[in-house]
Amino acid sequence: MSTPHLTNEPWDEHLIRYGMPFVPRLIAKARGTLIWDSEGREILDFTSGQMCATLGHNHPRIVEAIREACEGALHLFSGMLSPPVVALSQRLAGLLPPRLSKSLFLSTGGEANEAALKLAKLHTGNFEVVGYTGSWHGMTSGAQSVNYVAGRQGYGPMMPGSLALPAPNAYHCPVRHCRDACDGTCLEVGFDMVDAQSTGALAAVIAEPVESSGGVIVPPEGYWQKVKQHCDKRGMLLIFDEAQTAFGRLGRDFAFQHFGVEPDILTLSKTLGGGLPLSATIVSEAMEADCHEKGFMHPTSHVSDPLPAQVALAVLDVLAEERLNARALAMGELLAAGLRYLQDKHEIIGDVRGFGLLQGVELVKDRETRAPDVATGRAITSRCMELGLSMNIVSVGVMASMWRIAPPLTVRSEEIDRGIAILDQAITEVLAEGGRAAAE
Ligand SMILES: Cc1ncc(COP(=O)(O)O)c(C=O)c1O
Repeated sequence: MSTPHLTNEPWDEHLIRYGMPFVPRLIAKARGTLIWDSEGREILDFTSGQMCATLGHNHPRIVEAIREACEGALHLFSGMLSPPVVALSQRLAGLLPPRLSKSLFLSTGGEANEAALKLAKLHTGNFEVVGYTGSWHGMTSGAQSVNYVAGRQGYGPMMPGSLALPAPNAYHCPVRHCRDACDGTCLEVGFDMVDAQSTGALAAVIAEPVESSGGVIVPPEGYWQKVKQHCDKRGMLLIFDEAQTAFGRLGRDFAFQHFGVEPDILTLSKTLGGGLPLSATIVSEAMEADCHEKGFMHPTSHVSDPLPAQVALAVLDVLAEERLNARALAMGELLAAGLRYLQDKHEIIGDVRGFGLLQGVELVKDRETRAPDVATGRAITSRCMELGLSMNIVSVGVMASMWRIAPPLTVRSEEIDRGIAILDQAITEVLAEGGRAAAE
């Protein structure tokens, strides 16, 4: 295999910057929970790439599936179906409740949500869509209109009818009512606001069952049931965006199974392709028939492509064979225990929360006010990278300084121990160097 010849830095001379700083290393290789830079330095990946590599990087079965697809077909005319696509639609229908039986296969999470919003609008005849503060649904216009975590400024109007509900963040109560345990007041206030703003054309609520980029927010018991009741009362559909939460990270195939509420529309992406671009929008037979009747149109260049479908079949096989759902819960407990140990040791860690292998750690200036410590958080994250641990710090939105920690589901316990030890060292060193003051 040949490595492309690279001229010296700056590497980004001919690249558009897209909203997150480039890591100051070139990554040449990735396997399992590890990545290596072009100088051969090993780095533990606690972000699963961009939350997609749940089986670990370059899992042999994914590599094999890509080879198989090369023997078959990679890409076809958008009106053509292939055996992997049909098999994947059948597999998903078998895993999901009977009502969610019709899939559309696209490439990215944003695209799947775009299709979901169009289907919801066509089916209900309405156009208002309610998202959650802190949510992230993609960069295409419709999806971006219901992103409330960041990136709204500077592009003119969002889609007409885009409304927001406050996320049930118990650590930073959005309506300044609760502290540490959400009693659901924010939901009632939120729907009052929605009703006040609505022009009478409510189509759907779109939500991540556990909001990830917005702060790893696990809603309180019974929360999604209440949302569903609010939706039903208003004739709205509930769309769950399970880009990050489906296929094992929370210990089940789908996060909604934990909460006992079935969405009307489900979108899958990131974890379905295990690192290859694949997404799905899934609805009931009745909704599909109604929307087809009404002229639903969403062909894209890569709709129903065989290559990613072949890979997704391998992802689903490996999830079952390696019992990764159970593994995610076990490894998640180990990770959470390590993080709580660090919280006991380091005052800067205000909160540790999460579900399975999706854990969030908030960095605060003091535990009483819970004001985010953005500068120290960034300094520790950089030190982690120097020490060989890749961490994602989310420093936008309300809580504004949080690590979202999500290693692949195949992570080994020694790797979790190593990650915790690096984190401990990085926090200790940065704080000893006068961390906050120096960084600020
Ligand atoms: C919950 C959720 N939905 C949708 C998306 C958008 O996916 P994509 O970047 O593949 O368009 C993301 C991306 O981070 C996400 O986290």
